Amino acid sequence: MMDIDNLKDEISKFKASSQEQLEAFRIKFISRKSVIGELFGKMKEVPNEEKKAFGQHINELKNLAQDKFQELISDLDSTPESASGSSVDLTLPTSFAPLGSSHPITIIRNEIIDIFSKIGFNVSEGPEIEDDWHNFTALNFPPNHPAREMQDTFFLEKDPDIALRTHTSSVQIRVMENEKPPIRTLSPGRVFRNEAISARAHCIFHQVEGLFIDKNVSFVDLKQTIYFFVKEMFGSDTKIRFRPSYFPFTEPSAEIDISCNICGGSGCNICKYSGWVEIAGSGMVDPNVLTSANIDSEEYTGFAFGMGMERMAMLKWQINDLRLFTENDVRFLEQFKSL
Ligand code: DAH
Repeated sequence: MMDIDNLKDEISKFKASSQEQLEAFRIKFISRKSVIGELFGKMKEVPNEEKKAFGQHINELKNLAQDKFQELISDLDSTPESASGSSVDLTLPTSFAPLGSSHPITIIRNEIIDIFSKIGFNVSEGPEIEDDWHNFTALNFPPNHPAREMQDTFFLEKDPDIALRTHTSSVQIRVMENEKPPIRTLSPGRVFRNEAISARAHCIFHQVEGLFIDKNVSFVDLKQTIYFFVKEMFGSDTKIRFRPSYFPFTEPSAEIDISCNICGGSGCNICKYSGWVEIAGSGMVDPNVLTSANIDSEEYTGFAFGMGMERMAMLKWQINDLRLFTENDVRFLEQFKSL
């Protein structure tokens, strides 16, 4: 009986801080060859009248050992491995997941929107899959205009009336159809053209369209708006020039160049040694376009412009290959983290 009391004491005080110590406990107190097992074996040597009491005591001892064993298991499970001497230290700080960055086109888009919002422009969007009316016809494209042809436009095979929009000018029509002047809106978005991919051309790129319709809007308003934008975007030293051009949806039309801010105008391969880089097409909205969108061209006039976002990003950050914008090479994208 003294043995039993000593064993009870030993069991109660037992501590296991590793799997090895737990196993030692199991062998000593739980397994068939354990001391408790041996005590059960001694049962036959006990005089008959003491058998019952002895049996009760070793059963108690057995239950105590089993309860303790469960307790040791659960204690060990909830103990950090570091405390049990494992090589994994769970108290060490974790390594940080790498932080992403905005895409340069997103950064440029937000900057353009910020600048134009200062002079009252809102943002509007239209669908990337567009019908002939919004992409061409309402914009005064003659029926056989080359831009409608297959080599430029991705048409839907089953329905040639539907295409991927080739420019964001289509959103002009959607806005004018749905809103009454005065209109001052900016429409950024993706556009698609059937072009071979190279450093200077891509089949997917981004434009932002501007549209301003009100009474008595003149070319002077267009110029002042562009001056304001370019100086905000590229700095007050930037020079701007308007070159006469042609677009079906504007009359008169102009292309807008800025002084190359990579070489400062002295000539480099980005500006092809001219000192000037084209950033946009623009002009006064053709009265036919206003009429197509149910706006009275006697009462209202307006200007519009369309700019390439990739071109702006290239100028701003001296990027010399258009393909970088769509390849998603993290070494390129990571460089925009701080913006
Ligand atoms: N849509 C023209 C293009 O993709 C760009 C453009 C030119 C837009 C003149 C305009 C504009 O709004 O007035 O080349």
